[in-house]
This record gives sequence, C-alpha cells and structure tokens, in this order.
Amino acid sequence: MPVFFLKSLLSILTLALTFIAMFTMFEVFGRQEKRYNIEKLKKIHRANGVLYILLFIFIAYFCIVFILNTRAEPSPRAAFHAVFALAVIALLALKISFVMVYRQFYGKVQAIGMTVALLSLGMVGASGGYYLLITKFGTEKISGAKLGETTEKKITVKTDMESIKRGRELYESKCYFCHDAYSNKTEVGPGHKGILKNPFLPVSKRPATPENAANQLRNPYKDMPSFAYLADGQVADIIAFLNTL
Ligand code: HEC
Repeated sequence: MPVFFLKSLLSILTLALTFIAMFTMFEVFGRQEKRYNIEKLKKIHRANGVLYILLFIFIAYFCIVFILNTRAEPSPRAAFHAVFALAVIALLALKISFVMVYRQFYGKVQAIGMTVALLSLGMVGASGGYYLLITKFGTEKISGAKLGETTEKKITVKTDMESIKRGRELYESKCYFCHDAYSNKTEVGPGHKGILKNPFLPVSKRPATPENAANQLRNPYKDMPSFAYLADGQVADIIAFLNTL
C-alpha cells in the first residue's frame, strides 16, 4: 500500500475522532435537557482526545521524516497543510493548559475546541482529502499520464560542465536520499547508473528519453514526490547530470 494512501486513511480517522470530540462536547454543554450520562461523555471526550493526539504525533512523524528526506520546498497545498497542523498543535496545548492549570480561562475552552475541529478539517482536506480525491480513493495513480505519454516539450540535453555541475548539486540535495547515482541498486527508488543510456526507464518502462525523465520530476510515475516546483532550467541541469551517469 503506498505510504501516502495509508497516511490519508489515518487522517480520515483523525476527522472521525474530531467528529466524536465535537459530538460529545455539544451533548455536554449544548443541550438543556441531558440525553446521556455527562460523566461518561466527558470520559469519552478525554480518551478520544488522547487518541487524536497520538495519531497526530504518528502522522506528524511521518511528515517530518518525509520533509527531512526529500528537502523539497513545499507546494502551496503542503504549506497550508503545515500551517493548519501547527495551529492545531498550538491551540490543543492552550486548551489542555486551560483545562488542567489555568482554570479561570475554562470558559474559552469550548471555542478553542471548535476552532481545533475546523482547523482539523482544513488540515486533513488539504492533504489526505486531496490525495484520496485525485487518486479516486487510492485506486488510481497520482499522475494521469499513460505509459509513454509525456507532456514535456522536446529537451536538448546540455553537455557543458557548468550545467552538469549545477545538476549534480541539485541531485545531491534533492534526489540522493532515495536514489544511488552510481549503481542500479534500488534504495527508495531505482539506481540511476546509465539511466539515459538504457533503452527504458527502470520502473515505468517508458522510453529513456530526457523528456520522460523530466516528466518523472513533474508527474511522478507512482510513489516519488513531485518536483514540479523546479524551474525548467533546474530540470535541464538535472537531466544534464543524469546524462553523464
Ligand atoms: C522520496 C524518495 C525520492 C526522491 C527524493 C526522488 N525520487 Fe526518483 N523515484 C522514487 C521512486 C519510489 C521511484 C520509482 C517510480 C515511482 O514511484 O515514481 C523513482 C523513480 C525515478 C526515476 C525513474 C522513473 C521511471 O519512469 O522509471 C527517475 C528518472 C527518478 N526517480 C529521478 C529522480 C530525480 C532526478 C530526483 C531528484 C530531483 C528524484 N528522483 C528524487 C523516489 C524518489
């Protein structure tokens, strides 16, 4: 199962927990005539909150490892996702401190709880929700491109030392973690030795043209993160380096 799919499913679970948190809170504070046992609801609310935080930490760990490994500049969507997540952390910390220590502020707790719920919706929508939507709930690859199909314009491979050097530097900061440039050993992705000299790209089996290699950066075949934010010139430099392998 692609790791993003797993993460997306877990994030849907956080939404379910958010819903339970809201429901129990509304039943405790919102109704004049109580329908349920208040103490029981409070217990459920608390256990639910602990579960939410554990799940949050687990998913955040995955995100942080991913950021550290790829060192990719976040897309606008990923940036929104991160801002929502950081706001959730800050507000939850505030809320817990009002409940447990600064009881004089207790009246604010409900409003904070509702804000956390709204932010959770934004947080999950901007990441897991989006992923599940565009992959039709994990049944389709992210890139709609079919085998051999490419949206890239014709690329002339540069062979000057300057481009190759810039390409190597980019490669070392962005690709090295998942790819071995000098062998065909698979790390996270396939090794890149001879990548443009072989007839086909190793995983997608598309023809090993510079256009298809560039297309892999913009619309990855499967599990590779997209590098769509790279400028055309940077992609050309990376291709120039790949061409030397
Ligand atoms: C987080 C890990 C990761 C990073 C970072 C990464 N890749 Fe990949 N790459 C993969 C995986 C996994 C595949 C296998 C195909 C797929 O899932 O898209 C792959 C496949 C490829 C392929 C072969 C595609 C094919 O059609 O067979 C090329 C070329 C490639 N990557 C180039 C790069 C370049 C250049 C960079 C840096 C700008 C890079 N990758 C960064 C994980 C990564």
